[in-house]
This record gives sequence, C-alpha cells and structure tokens, in this order.
Amino acid sequence: MTDKTEGGDVRLSGISKHYGTFTAVHPLDLTVPQGSFFALLGASGCGKTTTLRMIAGLEEPSTGTVHLGDREVTHLPPYKRPVNTVFQSYALFPHLSIFENIAFGLRRRGIKSVKKQVDEMLELVQLGQFAQRKPHQLSGGQQQRVAVARALINHPQVLLLDEPLGALDLKLRRQMQLELKRIQTEVGITFVHVTHDQEEAMTMADTVAVMNGGRVEQLGAPAELYENPRTTFVANFLGTSNLIEASVESAGSEVVVSASGTTLRLPAARCSTTPRAGGKLLVGVRPEKVSLVPAEEEQAVAAGRNRITGRIAASSFIGVSTQFVVDSPVCPELEVYVQNIERDARLVPGAEVVLHWNPEHTFGLDADQDIDAGIETVEESA
Ligand SMILES: Nc1ncnc2c1ncn2[C@@H]1O[C@H](COP(=O)(O)OP(=O)(O)O)[C@@H](O)[C@H]1O
Ligand SMILES: [Mg+2]
Repeated sequence: MTDKTEGGDVRLSGISKHYGTFTAVHPLDLTVPQGSFFALLGASGCGKTTTLRMIAGLEEPSTGTVHLGDREVTHLPPYKRPVNTVFQSYALFPHLSIFENIAFGLRRRGIKSVKKQVDEMLELVQLGQFAQRKPHQLSGGQQQRVAVARALINHPQVLLLDEPLGALDLKLRRQMQLELKRIQTEVGITFVHVTHDQEEAMTMADTVAVMNGGRVEQLGAPAELYENPRTTFVANFLGTSNLIEASVESAGSEVVVSASGTTLRLPAARCSTTPRAGGKLLVGVRPEKVSLVPAEEEQAVAAGRNRITGRIAASSFIGVSTQFVVDSPVCPELEVYVQNIERDARLVPGAEVVLHWNPEHTFGLDADQDIDAGIETVEESA
C-alpha cells in the first residue's frame, strides 16, 4: 500500500504547462500532505486552474510528473485517477432528484443498492430533507453542497475544487467556507482548493500556496504567510502591508534602518534577505500592528517603539475598527487599523499624529523588487 513516509497524497515534480510560446505554469514542485486542506491562491490567470487540471488529468503537463500516493498517474486518463473535481458551475443533472444526482457515480459503476451511501452523503452535507427535490428547487449554496456530495460518494483519494464558491454571494460564501471545512475534517480526504480570494484561502486551508505568474511564490500555513511574507507580492496580496523604502544603517541581530531621517528597527530574523549596512531594505508592518496617538501625546509612547510622525489623510469607520490613511515624509498612505474600543475624537483627517509599533512586528524584504506587486487593481471577477 501507499508508503505515507514517502510523504504526500499529491506530489507534483517539475510539472509545467506551455501553450505555444506562453508558459502558463513554470516547473513546479509541490507536495500536498495526506488528509490536508490545501489552497492554491492567486489572481486570475496565474495558473491555478491549469495546475488543478494537470492533477485531474484534464491537461497533459509539458514536463514533469504527477503522483497520487506512491502511484504515478502522469499519463493516466482522468477517469482512471482516484480524484474528483467540483467546479464553480455545479453542473447538476436538472431532471434528476438530489438523491439521484448524488447516486449517479454509484449507479454508473453498476451498484444497485445505493440508499445507505446516498443517505450518508445527504446527512454529511445536511440536505436530508431535500432528497426528492430537483436542483432548481435549491439555493446556490445547497446546490454546491450536492455537487460536493456527488463527488465524495466516489471516495476519491483527492477532491479538487476550482473556485467552487465563486458564484455565491458574500454571506453565503462565508457560510459555505465553514461548511466545506467541516466536511473536509469529517471525511479526512485531501482537498485541493483553488481560489483568488485570500480570505477564503486563509479561513479554510491548512497550507496555502500563493501563485503569481505561473509560479508558487510562497507556501505555508496561513498565519506564517501573513506574518512572514517573503516577497512584496505575498505581503500585498495577502492582506495589506505598509512597505517603507529604507537604507540600512547597521545590520546585527537587530537591523537599524533610516527612511527620510526617521530611524526604525527590526529583528534580522524577520528579514527574507540578508540586510547589509549601506544597502536598501523594504521595511514592512501590518496595519493592525500599528497604534496611533495625537502628536501632542508623543511623550507617552514607550521607549524602544518604532515611530513615524504624519498627518491623517483619511479615516473610515467600519464598525469593529476605524481604518486610517496617514501621510508622512517617510511613506505616503500608511494604513493603520484601530480597534473600536474608545474612539479618540482628535483622530480626524488633518490631525498630526504619531504612529508607533513594536519593532518585533516589523519584517524586512529585498528592496530589489516591485514595491506594489500584488496590490489588487480593479478586480475582474474570476
Ligand atoms: N487552452 C489554453 N490555451 C492557451 N492559453 C491558456 C489555455 N488555458 C489557459 N491558458 C492561459 O494560461 C494562463 C493560466 O490560466 P489558468 O490556469 O486558467 O489561470 P487561473 O485559474 O489562475 O485564473 C492564463 O493566462 C490563460 O489565459
Ligand atoms: Mg481558474
């Protein structure tokens, strides 16, 4: 049987995909651990679907191999691979009941007594009372759950999901994320989930691979990617980062940098590049790590904190927090999120302020890359 110490339910080695002279996926090595919820995250066109289709056998890789468990499947047709795919369009059979839609895979294999298994699946996706309805009598989220049940009844080794929640409105999407996560935990099957929604990937996945231009830019647990982005693309695509161009003054275990006359500090251990005195560094801090006080209260800020003075350019109250944009000679448009506990009436546009944060909460990136990579422009829907 499968040697699990070999590691990985899905193992991609050097797989790539060219369409003519265009490279949709650059040679890629990826191991998806058995039983994990794995997300491929990236903007539209970055190669997620192509990667998924190579796992499913719907696309022939230009180079490389695909293993499922210890079995090489690179040249097997889709129907011979122990995988099922759920797409954004549910593609349910409109004339069949929910029960028969779910039973379909079993019936096709000539299995006569399907009731027990179908009932189990109906229960898993919590649609027992809808068994005799037709697809058009269900909501979008319910139909998508039928699509998941229809795939899982085949007991695939791996379930592939390509933007399965893309057609749902935001609230339903959030509900279905939790629901899919519960189902995955319950059945323990490996899920490979493709999405362009960073919040969705972080909510659901154990491991996220961030893709950019046909390459995996960084891979890790959601919190690890968020706290320690290694590139500007990941720093900007996953949440929001304030990135400040700075010159390195000294580089020991603590790195001291200067930006427009302001001194900032950060641990060398949090730099994805080796900072050198005299060189450049992009210094990053997340908006929720930063505190904001009126300039006249600067002396109340504890010693040893990184601090930047600036002026509030804009603020928006969004209930749980207020989001401020602060302009400073050090960096234009610094973003700060202040939790809505007690609101300071002095923090309004035009006010002089001091931003301050723990140097430990600062990360450092190679300055030799596009500082705006991964910032979403007007989004085309995927
Ligand atoms: N059959 C094809 N022929 C030519 N180009 C393709 C084909 N399929 C996908 N592409 C291109 O490959 C790139 C990656 O596509 P895709 O994997 O669908 O991206 P994603 O799923 O991340 O949005 C895109 O630029 C797309 O236009
Ligand atoms: Mg796609």
